[in-house]
Amino acid sequence: MDEEQLNPNAILASLGFERPRSSERVSGGRDTAIFRVELGGELHALRVFRPGEDGVARREAQVMRAAGEGGVPIPRVCAEGRWRDRAALLLSWCPGRPMAEELAARPWRAWPLGVLFGRCQAAIHFRSSPEALRAAGRAWIDWAGPGEEALAARLRKTDPCEDSLVHLDYHPLNVMTDGERITGVLDWTNARAGDPRADYARTLTILRLDLGTASPLVLAVLRVFEAGWRRGYRRIAGRPSDMAPYYAWAGAVMLRDRGPRPDRPGGMTARELGRVRAWAERWKKRAECGG
Ligand SMILES: Nc1ncnc2c1ncn2[C@@H]1O[C@H](COP(=O)(O)OP(=O)(O)O)[C@@H](O)[C@H]1O
Ligand SMILES: [Mg+2]
Repeated sequence: MDEEQLNPNAILASLGFERPRSSERVSGGRDTAIFRVELGGELHALRVFRPGEDGVARREAQVMRAAGEGGVPIPRVCAEGRWRDRAALLLSWCPGRPMAEELAARPWRAWPLGVLFGRCQAAIHFRSSPEALRAAGRAWIDWAGPGEEALAARLRKTDPCEDSLVHLDYHPLNVMTDGERITGVLDWTNARAGDPRADYARTLTILRLDLGTASPLVLAVLRVFEAGWRRGYRRIAGRPSDMAPYYAWAGAVMLRDRGPRPDRPGGMTARELGRVRAWAERWKKRAECGG
């Protein structure tokens, strides 16, 4: 996000807090700025949104509050407010580190970490979506974009569930772990009411196609992690059926989300996008919806 002077102390003051004991910018926030701040002896994450994203922040807070009640580890929303033209949320700090970092540090744990990752996603899917998401009326099918009518029609034939809680950005940078358990699922910006298969397909496309410049060793670790994830997920939720149109949908979503966009620098390279396009086309053919 753009780096205008973001002052965590001033932001916290506008949320009604005293000066923090310590504050530190956490790298890694792609869409928001994140600070780790210590207040009253406890660690918190201060999540600052881009200008004009008040609605995004409000919905995210509503989803986190509602979803956190059901046993899924989600940071607590401690305060919500605004600083200048930006919305900000103060969240409880999740111990440990992102799953991606844990995997890099302890690659031999790829299988059990994958199983944990899959079980947690299945637990999310067992929750019905909070009212705030159903009211938002952002149909997950439409995220594939205009021009995907044949795919949308094919998806509707799968008898999709419309009211499960689906995260739609469930990947190893958004899930915190202490190595033994999941300590928090972060970043609920994309969450919707929808069919769990969409979330499963989206996670698979991220694990397979959004790799940047991963080395062969990292790719091998990720394959083991992916196999563990599938096993953990399926043990709880069963094997998802009729996945081809969902994989095609997730490919189309990734093209839309990571293709060149003036409002969002740092999209995928032409080569990466080519792979995503090929993935989407292949699954469209298998799903028999043209392409
Ligand atoms: N509540 C939290 N507890 C611990 N770390 C957090 C928390 N929120 C964010 N982070 C850290 O910041 C990174 C980015 O956070 P995220 O919510 O995914 O932001 P973005 O929307 O920018 O992707 C995470 O990968 C994690 O390292
Ligand atoms: Mg994130």
